[in-house]
Amino acid sequence: MIYVKKPDEINKMRAAGKLTGDVLKFIEERIKPGITTAEINALIHGYITSHDAVPSFLGYHGYPASACVSVNDVVVHGIPGGYALCEGDIVSVDVGVIKNGWQGDAARTFAVGKISPQAQKLIDVTRECFFEGIKHARNGRRLGDLSSAIQRHAENHGYGVVREMVGHGIGRNMHEDPSVPNFGTPGTGVMLKSGYTLAVEPMINAGTFKIKFDPDGWTTRSGDGSLSAHYENTILVRDGDPEILTL
Ligand code: MF3
Ligand code: CO
Repeated sequence: MIYVKKPDEINKMRAAGKLTGDVLKFIEERIKPGITTAEINALIHGYITSHDAVPSFLGYHGYPASACVSVNDVVVHGIPGGYALCEGDIVSVDVGVIKNGWQGDAARTFAVGKISPQAQKLIDVTRECFFEGIKHARNGRRLGDLSSAIQRHAENHGYGVVREMVGHGIGRNMHEDPSVPNFGTPGTGVMLKSGYTLAVEPMINAGTFKIKFDPDGWTTRSGDGSLSAHYENTILVRDGDPEILTL
């Protein structure tokens, strides 16, 4: 069942989304060589809890932190720890908040100091994939239009689109219907309607689309060790262009 949010609920989603976007801006300024992934998590945890909100990831299916911090070949769900970021790394930070019972979810991949042109290209194209996709996130369009636009843009650059993990509806719960794949066929899938709120989140590998899991059960890596980038926002479907709630 896909729930159409009412106007007062959309306002609460806006507040949760704004805070989620603010967390990412706050942490972006602090991403420098030498900071550890655990320090990034601690800063994010403090920011969320000091803004009258709850980190949605902490304890979710046993996840042990308030943010996912995924370095280089880690696609998503990197568990924060003692690793200190190095110049040239790329780091994906994924954050979810619950404010007044409503959720926001967003992610960015950041450069650590000076990075290679290849790494910057992967980050840029992954962000572009999101914006190509959401051109189709409007009342009356099909989900497959959005999904296939993401896939096409990534594959035009020779990149691999992660299949096993997908975006999702979001509202009172972090994960609601529908699933929002980053690959698909135009003209297929559910019809989008005004009032749907979705987390659209391309996960793009420089090499193979395949992934593998670390023994911790969370850390997800590209199958061939290639770099991976992630870009996610929570959006509101409308008649015209969608509203991006987490920018
Ligand atoms: N943004 C991710 C998602 O949409 C975050 C979930 S991480 C978890 O699935 F730790 F909370 F599981
Ligand atoms: Co998400």
